[in-house]
Amino acid sequence: MSALDPSLVVARMRALGGSWPEPVVLDSVESTNAVLAHLPGDSDGVCVVADEQTAGRGRMDRTWTSNAGAGVWMSVRVALAEVPSERWPLLTMAAALAAQRALVAACDVPARIKWPNDLVVGTRKLGGLLTEVVGPVAVVGIGINVDWPAGQLPTPEATSVLVEGGRTDRAELLAHVLVLLEGLLPVWREGGSDLVMGFREACVTLGREVTVHLPGGGTLTGIASDIDDRGHLIVQDRGTPVSVSAGDVIHATITPWDTRPSSSPPAK
Ligand code: BTN
Repeated sequence: MSALDPSLVVARMRALGGSWPEPVVLDSVESTNAVLAHLPGDSDGVCVVADEQTAGRGRMDRTWTSNAGAGVWMSVRVALAEVPSERWPLLTMAAALAAQRALVAACDVPARIKWPNDLVVGTRKLGGLLTEVVGPVAVVGIGINVDWPAGQLPTPEATSVLVEGGRTDRAELLAHVLVLLEGLLPVWREGGSDLVMGFREACVTLGREVTVHLPGGGTLTGIASDIDDRGHLIVQDRGTPVSVSAGDVIHATITPWDTRPSSSPPAK
């Protein structure tokens, strides 16, 4: 696999109609989220992408395995000014939708989103997102397994673009994610319902029986009937709709598909 060439990525971004700056491409970093969090400024679209992460971060303090050349490990800066804080969680949903659409368009992989922010093909996890708020900006981290052969994937539940038989051009995938996210940001900022509508269409969770694992050890099991305009999942608990927010769940499993969290738990 070839190293990511930033000039090639920006050329593809321009060809696709994007205006964001050329991504900062690094060789090896602990975490692209951490690097981006320390860059000055608060403008949209600054992106740090690394060939390898040595301490990639996943949700809920899990680690995210990010071997050299095996994926797109990227973080994008988004300004939060003038966006009400109740709409911030929807930014991760916009980024998940951009990544899902990019996987379809650039890699020809039938990716979907498992609520709240797992990228999946069938029952297997292809990628995930981790957004961190740093002062006036959000650092939106996206990890997608691309060039990872079967047998070397970090968990039994994981998959990659390579394993799914898709096109493994990381520059093309990165350019698509950035341009699609740039296009979705105005929809997110304006608070239109198109974003959640798009998410619902791409979401594999709706209509399935789910078990939502809550902090403190509790669980909620029922049919996932909707995602509301705040991005909350509506679970029918014996006929009573219960709303759960992404920030309040450890993970949501779709039964009987998956019974374990899909990124590695923190090292003991
Ligand atoms: C998850 O599914 O738990 C979220 C995984 C997010 C991984 C990405 S890779 C790029 C960015 N930098 C990090 O340290 N994490 C995110």
